[in-house]
Amino acid sequence: MMNIVVLTGSGISAESGVATFRDKGGIWSKYDITEVATPHAFAHNPALVHEFYNSRRQALPSVHPNAAHIALAELEAGLKDAGWRFTLVTQNVDDLHERGGSRNILHMHGELLKSKCNGCGDVSECRTDLSVELKCEACGRVGGLRPNVVWFGEVPYFLDETAHALNDADLFVSIGTSGSVYPASGFVNQARTLGVETMELNLECSENARIFNKKIYGPATKVVPQWVSNVLNEL
Ligand code: APR
Repeated sequence: MMNIVVLTGSGISAESGVATFRDKGGIWSKYDITEVATPHAFAHNPALVHEFYNSRRQALPSVHPNAAHIALAELEAGLKDAGWRFTLVTQNVDDLHERGGSRNILHMHGELLKSKCNGCGDVSECRTDLSVELKCEACGRVGGLRPNVVWFGEVPYFLDETAHALNDADLFVSIGTSGSVYPASGFVNQARTLGVETMELNLECSENARIFNKKIYGPATKVVPQWVSNVLNEL
């Protein structure tokens, strides 16, 4: 039996044309986190927050899943057929894992293609721009709709499910993340404490590189399909 937990970050979507956050020219070199990605930012200037997420949502139809997304979907299907467990936790709010064929995805930082009402908490599909003029279909409140994205200072989703999966895991693999943001950056420590084998697949060393048992560096579209092929060949 082999249970695998995979964590992905923006680096897995980089070769699809989705900007990462902290690489040169990344999102946080163009926007101030405190102005677009906190509850206070939304309360203070909701129009700017909507502009930031609307532009990222509008870009999604023109980007497509890459070989790394597709390889993880093949891994999920292959492990399922072999009776193994596979958990994909992503920090990404894009829908490229879904479009790449993955079925069970834990979006711990939420999803660009969902809105949430600050009033009643209703979460709904959202494929168009959000604005302060819009009304929540569930409670009728105007101005309370926000992207269903976890902001700094908010609690990510699926932490219990991820902890449970790590408890049962034989292998934890981190792909395309700098390891800058907790609690995702702490998963490798949880895994090590539990005696779980750990591996980093990344373009370059992350902040946690020294903690991983194994490290393979290179573009995700190269190293992820190679790793997946090795795992599936050993099934
Ligand atoms: N292939 C593999 N890895 C890549 C590639 C690539 N083609 N391009 C970049 N990377 C790696 C970088 O080396 C870096 O380690 O992806 C990582 C991107 O790091 P960040 O930009 O910090 O993005 P991420 O780790 O996903 O950020 C985590 O921070 O701002 C929050 O909510 C945001 O979910 C995000 C979280």
